[in-house]
Amino acid sequence: MVISVGTATGSDLDGIMALQEANQPARGGYLSVSLSRTCIAERMAAMPMVVARQDDAVCGFLMTSTLEMNRDVPVIRAMLEAYAGAADAYVYGPVCVREDARGLGLARTMFIELQRHLPGREGILFIRRDNPASLRAHEKMGMKEVAGFVFDGRECAVFSYVAADLQGCADGENAPLGTQV
Ligand SMILES: CC(C)(COP(=O)(O)OP(=O)(O)OC[C@H]1O[C@@H](n2cnc3c(N)ncnc32)[C@H](O)[C@@H]1OP(=O)(O)O)[C@@H](O)C(=O)NCCC(=O)NCCS
Repeated sequence: MVISVGTATGSDLDGIMALQEANQPARGGYLSVSLSRTCIAERMAAMPMVVARQDDAVCGFLMTSTLEMNRDVPVIRAMLEAYAGAADAYVYGPVCVREDARGLGLARTMFIELQRHLPGREGILFIRRDNPASLRAHEKMGMKEVAGFVFDGRECAVFSYVAADLQGCADGENAPLGTQV
């Protein structure tokens, strides 16, 4: 399977929306929010958003957003009450990989790509404790659990990391733009 990883553009919006929809709790998925197309487009314009594409079809996405953008998102507010992070921290997620592309290291590759855009800044995320694949995947990326909270009766872990400075890296694990998996 040849998959490339790079920055999301407007032509990825339909694919991102479809993948987000397929991973909602009502369909047995683990995503905690369902963002509108407008909201995703706003995030894409304001902050780095990474996608994985197979033959131009989106098979993974990794979004980020500013703390300010999440002012009215209850689950993110709960996360930030449990752990505030640095003043210039940003929110990592949601992240999602199409079911048939999981376990190939795509989430990790998208994270490496993301760090190229935000070197030195702290990212904060939460993961439901009943989502072992995501907990394990993010622990393997080197993220550290810093707090926990309960939202809607679900236990969540808060993770934090400071993006490595990968500027100029062009080989090995620190893969460049347009990486092929
Ligand atoms: C969580 C998710 C993004 C991981 O994406 P991925 O591309 O499959 O992850 P990776 O291939 O980079 O995984 C890296 C590590 O995570 C762990 N992992 C991945 N899938 C796993 C699973 N099903 N069970 C346990 N561990 C798992 C493994 O340790 C793996 O490393 P290894 O292959 O060297 O053992 C993906 O499973 C997904 O989209 N899930 C549905 C949506 C979701 O839960 N999003 C996250 C919300 S917080």
